[in-house]
Amino acid sequence: MKFDILTLFPGMFLTPFDESIIKRAKDKQLIDISLHNIRDWAIDRHQTADDSPYGGGAGMVMKVEPLAACIESVKSFHPDSTILLTSPHGRRLTHRVAVELAKKSGLIIVCGRYEGIDERIRSLYAEDDISLGDFVLSGGEIAAMAIVDTVTRLIPGVLGSCESAETDSFGDGLLEYPHYTRPPEFKGLAVPEQLLSGNHELIRRWRRKESLRKTMHLRPDLFSYVKLTREDKKFLTEIELEESNGN
Ligand SMILES: C[S@@+](CC[C@H](N)C(=O)[O-])C[C@H]1O[C@@H](n2cnc3c(N)ncnc32)[C@H](O)[C@@H]1O
Repeated sequence: MKFDILTLFPGMFLTPFDESIIKRAKDKQLIDISLHNIRDWAIDRHQTADDSPYGGGAGMVMKVEPLAACIESVKSFHPDSTILLTSPHGRRLTHRVAVELAKKSGLIIVCGRYEGIDERIRSLYAEDDISLGDFVLSGGEIAAMAIVDTVTRLIPGVLGSCESAETDSFGDGLLEYPHYTRPPEFKGLAVPEQLLSGNHELIRRWRRKESLRKTMHLRPDLFSYVKLTREDKKFLTEIELEESNGN
């Protein structure tokens, strides 16, 4: 997967992409990330990349010409890549959207700044528009990092044999079960005995049930997208019974 990130602040990306899973994916050549400084495509002496908005008002707007030139140059090298804007107006980044993006051969991610980008960039080039949620970030860089991170995890071969995107939350439609590590007891709270049993079937059943319990408490809306098995339904009945009995 080829990621091209178009930004006015390339320095923001240096460390996040040089650690852990993203670094490993780059080292294994499963992904390739290039940063492009939009300012390099500004033609005037001061390399101006923003200007005041038509109609007046607060803030600045990212100019159309440097960004258009930058997009066209990057796209000419990667014609199959999808041009993606980051904006609070876009479709929400979810696991389902990440799975969709992970199937692309490349993503050209445009990071907005200031009041945003000149709307003509959206009209002329945007193939997708992604939002992290209903809040406003100062720039698209953090959104681009989130997109690269979540998409990279889904690329086959990126996660090691001990890690799995399928058992992660949303991988099977539910929230993931709770995790514990040593010590077996902390401040009076013991690790559930099933996890210490060494019995794989017992552990599997405990995890599935707790995954259902978490989803029921925190994100019951997710159940409308999941096909529950007969065992799941039995676990949910047990959970309701346990909780009505105050367990
Ligand atoms: C300060 S914001 C502009 C907000 C814009 N004036 C508005 O009210 O919709 C600057 C840039 O940050 C990025 N951004 C802000 N919020 C975002 C979000 N929720 N998801 C993705 N990107 C976001 C976009 O690239 C945006 O162009």
